[in-house]
Amino acid sequence: MPSLAIRVQNVKKVFRKRNGLLRRKIREEHALKGITLEVREGEAYGLLGPNGSGKSTLIRILSTLLLADGGDIEILGFRLPEHEREVRERVGRVSVDAAFYKKLSARENLLYTAFLYGFEKPDAERKALDILKRLGQDASRFDDPLEEMSRGMQQKVSIARALLVNPPLLLLDEPTTGLDPKSKQEVQRFIEDLRRREGTTILLTTHDMDEAERLCDRIGILTRGQLVAEGTSEELKSQAGADNLEAVFLKMVGESFEEAEKEVTVE
Ligand SMILES: Nc1ncnc2c1ncn2[C@@H]1O[C@H](COP(=O)(O)OP(=O)(O)OP(=O)(O)O)[C@@H](O)[C@H]1O
Ligand SMILES: [Mg+2]
Repeated sequence: MPSLAIRVQNVKKVFRKRNGLLRRKIREEHALKGITLEVREGEAYGLLGPNGSGKSTLIRILSTLLLADGGDIEILGFRLPEHEREVRERVGRVSVDAAFYKKLSARENLLYTAFLYGFEKPDAERKALDILKRLGQDASRFDDPLEEMSRGMQQKVSIARALLVNPPLLLLDEPTTGLDPKSKQEVQRFIEDLRRREGTTILLTTHDMDEAERLCDRIGILTRGQLVAEGTSEELKSQAGADNLEAVFLKMVGESFEEAEKEVTVE
C-alpha cells in the first residue's frame, strides 16, 4: 500500500468574530466542519469549492499557519500540531497572500529563504533564477523591490520560493489565479514536470476546472466547510451524471445550498 503524504481526520475550524453594536456579540464561523481526506505520496489532489468554502483555511492549517480546533492531522508521518517544525521543513506553500519582505527585492527574499534552509548562496541564486526564468519571469526584474512588482510577478516569486527548497509536499493555494494565460500554462507545465522529475505530492486549490482536470489525479469538492464529493474527474462526472467538471461543481454546490435551506426551514 502506498504511504500517505496527508492524513486529515475530522478536522474542524471555528473562527470567532466580534459583531454587532459595541462588538459585544460573538459570531461563530464554522469554516471547516469535520473534514476527512487522504492524499497519497506522489499524488496530486485538487480542492474545488465556492468562495468561502474553507479551502484556504485547510491549506493554512496543513502548512502550520493556523491551528485546527479538532481532529487529527498527519503530514508525511508527522502529527500536527506536535511536529510543527518537521512539517514546516518539508512543506512548501504558495498563495496569493504570501508573506514577503515587500521592501526587499525578489533576489533578497529568495536568498533569505535559502539562508534559513542552510543553502549556499551561489547555488540558491542560480536555482532561484532558473525557476523564475522557467516561469517566464524576466531576470532583469530580480533586483526590484517586491512592492514594485505586479501581483502576477509576486505570485511567480512565491512559487520560486516554495520550489527553491524542493519540498516533498507542495500546498498550492490558487497557484495560477491572476496569471496571464501564458504564465498560467508555464506554471502548470512546471508543476507537471516537477511531479515527473521529483515525485512531489501536491495539494492544490483552484477555480479553474480545466486546471484541476489537467493536474490532479483526484479531486475533492468542498462546500460550506464540508467535503461533499471526491474522486477522479471521471468518477465525479459519472456520479453526478454530468459530462464536464463545471457541471459537476454546479450540481454538487447547488445541492448543498438546497440542503442548507431545508435545514433553515425545519428550524
Ligand atoms: N482569519 C480569519 N478570521 C475569521 N474568519 C476567517 C478567517 N479566515 C477565513 N475565515 C472565514 O472562513 C471561511 C472560509 O474561508 P476560506 O478563506 O478558507 O475560503 P476559500 O474556500 O479559500 O475561499 P476563496 O475561494 O474565496 O479563496 C469564510 O467564511 C471566511 O470568512
Ligand atoms: Mg482561498
